[in-house]
Amino acid sequence: MKKSSEQSQSVWMDTTELPLESTLAAKVSADVCIVGAGIAGMSTAYMLAREGKSVVVLDDGPIGGGMTARTTAHLVNALDDRYFELERLHGKEGARLAAESHSAAINTVEAIVKREAIKCEFERLDGFLFVPPRKSSKVLDDELAAVHRAGLTDIEKVERAPWDSYDTGPALRFPRQAQFHPLKYLAGLAEAIKVKGGRIYTQTHATSIQGGKKARIETRGGGVVTADSVVVATNTPVNDLIVIHTKQASYQTYVIGARVPKGSVTRALYWDTPDPYHYLRIETVGKGAAAYDLLIVGGEDHKTGQQDDGNKRFAALERWTRRRFPMIEGIAYRWSGEVMEPVDGLAFIGRNPTDAKNVYIATGDSGNGMTHGTIAGILLTDLILKRKNAWESIYEPSRITLRALPKFVRENLNVAMQYTDLVFAGDAKSAEEIKPGAGAVLARGLRKVALYRDPKGEIHERSAVCPHLGGIVNWNTLENTWDCPCHGSRFDATGRVIQGPSNNDLAEIDKE
Ligand SMILES: Cc1cc2nc3c(=O)[nH]c(=O)nc-3n(C[C@H](O)[C@H](O)[C@H](O)COP(=O)(O)OP(=O)(O)OC[C@H]3O[C@@H](n4cnc5c(N)ncnc54)[C@H](O)[C@@H]3O)c2cc1C
Ligand code: FES
Repeated sequence: MKKSSEQSQSVWMDTTELPLESTLAAKVSADVCIVGAGIAGMSTAYMLAREGKSVVVLDDGPIGGGMTARTTAHLVNALDDRYFELERLHGKEGARLAAESHSAAINTVEAIVKREAIKCEFERLDGFLFVPPRKSSKVLDDELAAVHRAGLTDIEKVERAPWDSYDTGPALRFPRQAQFHPLKYLAGLAEAIKVKGGRIYTQTHATSIQGGKKARIETRGGGVVTADSVVVATNTPVNDLIVIHTKQASYQTYVIGARVPKGSVTRALYWDTPDPYHYLRIETVGKGAAAYDLLIVGGEDHKTGQQDDGNKRFAALERWTRRRFPMIEGIAYRWSGEVMEPVDGLAFIGRNPTDAKNVYIATGDSGNGMTHGTIAGILLTDLILKRKNAWESIYEPSRITLRALPKFVRENLNVAMQYTDLVFAGDAKSAEEIKPGAGAVLARGLRKVALYRDPKGEIHERSAVCPHLGGIVNWNTLENTWDCPCHGSRFDATGRVIQGPSNNDLAEIDKE
């Protein structure tokens, strides 16, 4: 099976086999059905199964085939939206609960790795936050004061991050952060879920998710799950049409993996402060004499579907990295992925607003999906078991954060602007202009058509109108995907949906 619908491959995909399970074809029932086998869904399934609940997990790809395969897997309480900002938006107590929950998430992953003996390279290490050259370090002072108020009193300011090749200037040191191999972790969770009686079905697309007295989840192959509760952990909820998608925005982010001499970069996590920011870690690839260090560097984000210049972004990342690490021997990996940015900096984990009471969601991870996904496991397990959890209110999906209103308006105006594409003339005038392996939107009268010419020269036509809320998709040359600039739905070259909020493929032309 193809490892991914996108063209690029991460180091994780290259160094693990993604577990495949059978496809659901029958009618089954469970206490809880979880849709989505990424870190959020698998953590939730594991924790519920451990509490004795019967769980069924559905994923339309393999386990971990979504953004968890494309992450860089920093596990942090050094949150990328900054604590002084979280304090402004959610108050001192909100920032404290955020710090507490992310710290608990790292501890929980560590405990699970130990308990289940998961070989996923889990490693505790320091994290360093620094400012770009010639920028004031006031932001570090503000953040230091805010993290201390939030209860993270072991964070300190140091003269520089521990790089020999480049002076970062002052930095904040966050002790006891962590990293791991995300797919090896999910493979371990899958084993543990099955040992506890959980059932996992892959290549099983949930077409309809209905709550109610009994939740009912229908799948593309005809299989049906009935359950007391359903958790939609599809990175962005495919069962919510509007509410959540006005409160989070979808960004594409880019990663390179640079080969460096073993031991030449201190093992730690690193982040700078611009928007978008750079994020770095070291992964040792291979074993014995063949092992090498891979410096994994991410950044260069833009709104999904609004730019098509992936190679330029990789080049910019490479320039930035080589300036700081002249010992780079070559670039071994380049990949991209999608991140959901909540307007107020915290994930949405809990009951799906305006839905039945037994439908739960986990989304809005920002760049902290490893810990937010783990928090989802802890919090949703408590909610489903009707236990109190102090974090419930800060992650409540129906919350309205008045202080985030300017960002909310900005993001939604940006979305509104994308609908002007409904009247644009198209990227190409005719199919003849489209080269093999490329795609373009064509205007045929008032109709917009997404045309892809495969490497053999055959043309594949679909409607360019996104089934979610009618945006016009754009071709992504790097990943060979159709990306919607409105709320980030993505489709493979032939129109099959690979990322919500759309839960449907691009329509066939005569079925529009
Ligand atoms: C390049 C990059 C770097 C990142 N770096 C970090 C980092 O260092 N630290 C960090 O904490 N976070 C990071 N993140 C964010 C983090 O990776 C994500 O937030 C996290 O992986 C999301 O996990 P998830 O389980 O919510 O979603 P996914 O992993 O995307 O899982 C969702 C699953 O749902 C399935 N699905 C979707 N629709 C259906 C359907 N209808 N039926 C059945 N299944 C369906 C998909 O196939 C998929 O497997 C990064 C993200 C990217 C892209
Ligand atoms: S993702 Fe909302 S319109 Fe396409």
